[in-house]
Amino acid sequence: MEKERTLVLIKPDGVQRGLMGEIISRIERTGLKIVGMKMVLAGDEILDKHYALTDEWARELTEKSKSTAEKEGRDFPFENHMELGGMIQSRLKKSLSEGPAIAMIWEGFHAVQIVRKIVGHTEPKQSVPGTIRGDFLLDSYELADKEERAVKNLIHASSDLNEAKREVGLWFVEEEFF
Ligand code: CDP
Ligand code: MG
Repeated sequence: MEKERTLVLIKPDGVQRGLMGEIISRIERTGLKIVGMKMVLAGDEILDKHYALTDEWARELTEKSKSTAEKEGRDFPFENHMELGGMIQSRLKKSLSEGPAIAMIWEGFHAVQIVRKIVGHTEPKQSVPGTIRGDFLLDSYELADKEERAVKNLIHASSDLNEAKREVGLWFVEEEFF
C-alpha cells in the first residue's frame, strides 16, 4: 500500500477569519504530514483548471444541490447540470480570488479520505459538529443562491485520488515538496 498526497486549500474566507492555525492543527493531529505549503493569490489561469467545468464535476455538484433542494421543498430551477456548473464555477472563481489562500499538500496513508472526513459536507448547514465546516461557520446553498455567491465553507480538499493527483500537480512543482 502506498502513501497518498492530497491538496488542501484554506480558502480566502478561512484566511480572513484567522482560522489557518486551527485548520492546520486539526489535520496535523491525525498524523498526516505537510509536504508542501504556500500562500497564493489565485488567478484565472489556475482557477480555470482547478474548477474545470467538466461534465462529471457539474453532474455531481448538481445532484448534491438538487437533492438538498428537494429535501427542503425548495425550487430547483436548473434544467441542465452544465448550466448550474458554469454558474457555480464563476462564483467560485470570484470567491477564491478575493484574497490570498493557503495551499498545502498533506501526505500519508488514506490521506484523501481522512482529510475529507475532517472537512465535512460541502454545505456547512449539513456538515456535522466536529468537522471543520460543521464547527466554524454557518452557510447554506439557499443563502448563497439568494446572494448570488459561492457557498462559504473555508476549505477545499481533493475528493478522490484522481482529483488529488491532478490538483497536486496543478498547484505545486517538484522543487516545492519536502
Ligand atoms: O468542496 P466540495 O468538494 O465539498 O464540493 P464541490 O461539489 O466540489 O463544489 C465545490 C465548491 O463549490 C464548494 O466547496 C462550494 O464552495 C461551491 N458550491 C456552491 O457554491 N454552490 C453549490 N450549489 C455547490 C457548490
Ligand atoms: Mg470538490
